[in-house]
Amino acid sequence: MMLVNCFVLAIFVLYIYQSVVPIESLTAPNRNVLILLADDLGLELNCYNNTVIDTPNIASLAARGVVYKNAFTSVSSCSPSRSAVLSGLPQHQNGMYGLHNGYHNFNSFKEVRSLPLMLKEAGIRTGIIGKKHVAPENVYPFDYAETEENNSILQVGRNITYIKQLVRYFFQSMSPKQNFFLYVGFHDPHRCGHTHPQYGSFCEKFGNGEPGMGVISDWKPRYYNANEVIVPQFVQDTPASRRDIAAQYTTISRLDQGVGIVLQELKAAGFLNNTMILLTSDNGIPFPNGRTNLYVSGTVVPFVLSSPYHTEGWGTVSQSYASLLDITPTVLEWFGVKFQKYTIFDRHVHLTGKSLWENTSCEAVYGSHSLHEITMYYPMRMVHKLNFTYIENLNFMMPFPIDQDFYLSPSFQDLLNNSATGQPTYWIKTLKQYYYRPRFELYNLTRDPDEVNNLAYDENYLAIRSQLQELLHRWLVDTWDPWRCYPQAVLEDAGPYKQNPVCMELLNGL
Ligand SMILES: *[C@@H]1O[C@H](CO)[C@@H](O)[C@H](O)[C@H]1NC(C)=O
Ligand SMILES: *[C@@H]1O[C@H](CO)[C@@H](O)[C@H](O)[C@H]1NC(C)=O
Ligand SMILES: *[C@@H]1O[C@H](CO)[C@@H](O)[C@H](O)[C@H]1NC(C)=O
Ligand SMILES: *[C@@H]1O[C@H](CO)[C@@H](O)[C@H](O)[C@H]1NC(C)=O
Ligand SMILES: *[C@@H]1O[C@H](CO)[C@@H](O)[C@H](O)[C@H]1NC(C)=O
Ligand SMILES: *[C@@H]1O[C@H](CO)[C@@H](O)[C@H](O)[C@H]1NC(C)=O
Ligand SMILES: *[C@@H]1O[C@H](CO)[C@@H](O)[C@H](O)[C@H]1NC(C)=O
Ligand SMILES: *[C@@H]1O[C@H](CO)[C@@H](O)[C@H](O)[C@H]1NC(C)=O
Repeated sequence: MMLVNCFVLAIFVLYIYQSVVPIESLTAPNRNVLILLADDLGLELNCYNNTVIDTPNIASLAARGVVYKNAFTSVSSCSPSRSAVLSGLPQHQNGMYGLHNGYHNFNSFKEVRSLPLMLKEAGIRTGIIGKKHVAPENVYPFDYAETEENNSILQVGRNITYIKQLVRYFFQSMSPKQNFFLYVGFHDPHRCGHTHPQYGSFCEKFGNGEPGMGVISDWKPRYYNANEVIVPQFVQDTPASRRDIAAQYTTISRLDQGVGIVLQELKAAGFLNNTMILLTSDNGIPFPNGRTNLYVSGTVVPFVLSSPYHTEGWGTVSQSYASLLDITPTVLEWFGVKFQKYTIFDRHVHLTGKSLWENTSCEAVYGSHSLHEITMYYPMRMVHKLNFTYIENLNFMMPFPIDQDFYLSPSFQDLLNNSATGQPTYWIKTLKQYYYRPRFELYNLTRDPDEVNNLAYDENYLAIRSQLQELLHRWLVDTWDPWRCYPQAVLEDAGPYKQNPVCMELLNGL
């Protein structure tokens, strides 16, 4: 074990040397990781050129790191995305097909060897503060855990004063010379209109000091004028959606101040100059065409990667593709911990993401979504390459499902009301188009960033479509996707087919 680690470390040191990092950094005693994971955050940030919102703390982090413009989650749902972040495996491979909480009840397979598990075994102290939302415990163990499992999610995920105390305690309880991996899972800026409507649709009133709202002493609430917010192209521009976005901005500002506080604690504890910091989000924003979709609007995430040893990249914007599946390999390489190959159900597992320290622009990113809530079965697979999106909707004959939280949102209610009464919706599509999708979708993002002009059935694009289809299916086979023969065939992969799985035709006309 020791020998293996030294060997890997040697390669790593060699790599650092080759990438022209100042020699002093090689003498750094420790290497640490801080992951700042926001909940349903999109690109409503200064560092993504939104000039209306006020997010100076994330902007300061961006000034010490690289902002990825083309970073995507592989799955547009909370627990599945977090399981992919923490295992490096897509949902169909790690078993977290949908949400973990309540009657949704999804869990990863017990064989999964997660990032916190591998780091713990390598002697790195692991901590999680805030939203966890993945299980079982023995797959995702953390040495220090203050999560929704034994705290109020509002306190541990949105009360930035409480979060500050927990983070401070984590740093104070470090032993000398120990390395750490700390994952802070903010619940901001998630909606809360369906669980805590008294605090507003984004919990934007929680802790604002008004009667009944309580106080978060470290938070200076920022309020936004609904007339001034920037309405994303994929959201209808109406008074209702603008008010909804203004509330979201207030909650994003609380997240930003929380990020500032956590970074201040990191600095005060003396770890700023040897800690890799990553700020990202589990999935896209909870607005029409957003979260639960594999469209760009549902999968694009902010991604700010900061390393004290890569100062030459500070303040730059990268056009390279990045995936949340890259986080596990990136953190492993940072620590010089080798990924130990293992099996799930006797099938070999390897990581398909890449370490972002390798500085090779990856040519494609992949997506795989099966459910959000237990009732929301709508499997989709996706690949992005050369600024094209290719999506397969496996159950395209059924209507696209809607989650409880989004259903009650002012933006969706506005779409429903206007559609019901035949009024203009001011949306890029109709509800009918949103519910009933073609089996294949192909978009040229350079010309069609809103993904409304489907080229999948245009004969001029058949070659591109089949190229992307082949690429996608190679990844599905590589990651043991149980859906990979669906919907026109059945996968047989047990008994006599175990060594050579086959797709057997159903003759269902597809
Ligand atoms: C990091 O900061 C500590 C204390 O501020 C200092 O002793 C150390 O040399 C710094 N390390 C690097 C690599 O800059
Ligand atoms: C913000 O705008 C500047 C100037 O146009 C551009 O260079 C930069 O890439 C943009 N950043 C992002 C993240 O889109
Ligand atoms: C939550 O559980 C952890 C152990 O898993 C324990 O250390 C911590 O004190 C608990 N926190 C609360 C608020 O009960
Ligand atoms: C936030 O946490 C602090 C510290 O635990 C507490 O005093 C305060 O009442 C909390 N605020 C809210 C709104 O719950
Ligand atoms: C990656 O490569 C680009 C161009 O080759 C270079 O400008 C940049 O500094 C490199 N980044 C890192 C982190 O090595
Ligand atoms: C939608 O219609 C319902 C019932 O008429 C009404 O209560 C609600 O305020 C409307 N919502 C929006 C956002 O227009
Ligand atoms: C990719 O598409 C986006 C719009 O979605 C556009 O801004 C960007 O310039 C395109 N990139 C390339 C390399 O064509
Ligand atoms: C995609 O759109 C861009 C911008 O219109 C165009 O230049 C490019 O040729 C298109 N790509 C293909 C393969 O059609």
